[in-house]
Amino acid sequence: MSMQIFRTKHFSSNDHAEHGLKRCLSAWDLAFLGIGAIIGTGIFVLTGIAAATQSGPAVVLSFVIAGLACAFAALSYAELSASIGGCGSAYGYSYVAFGELCAFIIGWDLLLEYSIAVATVANGWSGYFCNALTAMGIPLPEALTKAPELGGVINLPAAVIILLLMGLLIMGTKQSARANNTMVFVKLITIAVFIAVAAFNVHVENWQPFMPFGWFQTLPDGQTTGVLAGASLVFFAYVGFDAVSTATEEARDPQHDLPFGIVASLMFCTVIYILVSGLLTGVVNYTELNVSSPVAHALNLLGYNWASALISTGVIAGLSTVMLVLYYALTRIIFAMSRDGLLSPFFNKVNPQTQTPVRVIILCGVIMALIAGFIPLNELAELVNIGTLAAFVLVCFGVIVLRITKPDMPRPFRTPFGLLFPALGVLSCAALMAFLPSITWLRFVIWLVIGLIVYFSYSMQHSKLADAD
Ligand code: ALA
Repeated sequence: MSMQIFRTKHFSSNDHAEHGLKRCLSAWDLAFLGIGAIIGTGIFVLTGIAAATQSGPAVVLSFVIAGLACAFAALSYAELSASIGGCGSAYGYSYVAFGELCAFIIGWDLLLEYSIAVATVANGWSGYFCNALTAMGIPLPEALTKAPELGGVINLPAAVIILLLMGLLIMGTKQSARANNTMVFVKLITIAVFIAVAAFNVHVENWQPFMPFGWFQTLPDGQTTGVLAGASLVFFAYVGFDAVSTATEEARDPQHDLPFGIVASLMFCTVIYILVSGLLTGVVNYTELNVSSPVAHALNLLGYNWASALISTGVIAGLSTVMLVLYYALTRIIFAMSRDGLLSPFFNKVNPQTQTPVRVIILCGVIMALIAGFIPLNELAELVNIGTLAAFVLVCFGVIVLRITKPDMPRPFRTPFGLLFPALGVLSCAALMAFLPSITWLRFVIWLVIGLIVYFSYSMQHSKLADAD
């Protein structure tokens, strides 16, 4: 009870004014933030790997399955974002539905999700950027493009892009949203070009055999394969729509605009993914897609070299928006956790001029730039997935719990058909977690154990809730 009173007081409008984040984002800004965060490495890189090693042409089914799980989760996010408000995100919803410990765990989990996602995508971005420089005849020395473990000194482009995004986020949320909108536009044009070119070059025999790896199997080395394992991998392509929910305090009309931003961006991207993955495996045999840039590669094979160059430009812009929005979300989660006393109050400050949490932005930027510059992170997409899926399970479960414990809470948006969709969300997201390899589970558990140590040694004593009690 005290927790609930505390939350209500804590997130009043006065509180908003005091902390000074600026309400500047429209419904379309939010939808574009969603699209900015969603379309990236997943479709431009992982589709090819999933098709070649896990799903075959049935990668399109993997996208449908992962998209369905996300749709259930998105509806749950929409309901909670409209009814709870506050700092938004799975962290804020878990706080209200399950209490402080659970909220801390999910907040800690989101730190993993967003920070690893940004550093991983920065590595992919660097690969595309270096290729583009090489194509223009100005290649960077190899020592500056690879982490020490791979024989270089630093992956400089990966570190620098994060620092540039840091500058943009410090400048202001509206400025960042404008830059995001422009880059999303470029990314969508390139996807439209791919769809237009590929649609006229499909060879239906490439879709046979449709499901060469079956539904699911575990290989002797612990890796998983099949359409369901492919769904767990390409799930990464959907990561990001949840980031929209961290913008609650900067949305002009959060009760209306957040559900719109979340659901619209997810629906749009699902359609794009089904089209692109279906066409990709239709124009090139799936066995040839295990490359770092399968979409550009497919167009090269078809002889459209100009289109392939255009796709690379789109990917560079597209991956930048993914990093920008996930980085933004990361800072807002830390800001909220710090404000609740679960992390150091040092981060609970907004710069009065830019109205952005500058300290958090700088801290995250420097740490992620170091990680991206010195650690090769290309294989951690599945770690991001498990973290995100765990958050989705809790959000869907939170809808069920709150419908029972707080039936009278105002709900401007309700998921249709009672508790059916949240229940399906819990089941489908938990199932996708189960299809992930054991090494991913191990890394995830280690991260959570570290989180529990932080909680019991620091957060529990310093939280605002402890003060209130
Ligand atoms: N969904 C984002 C991507 O695919 C994280 O890059």
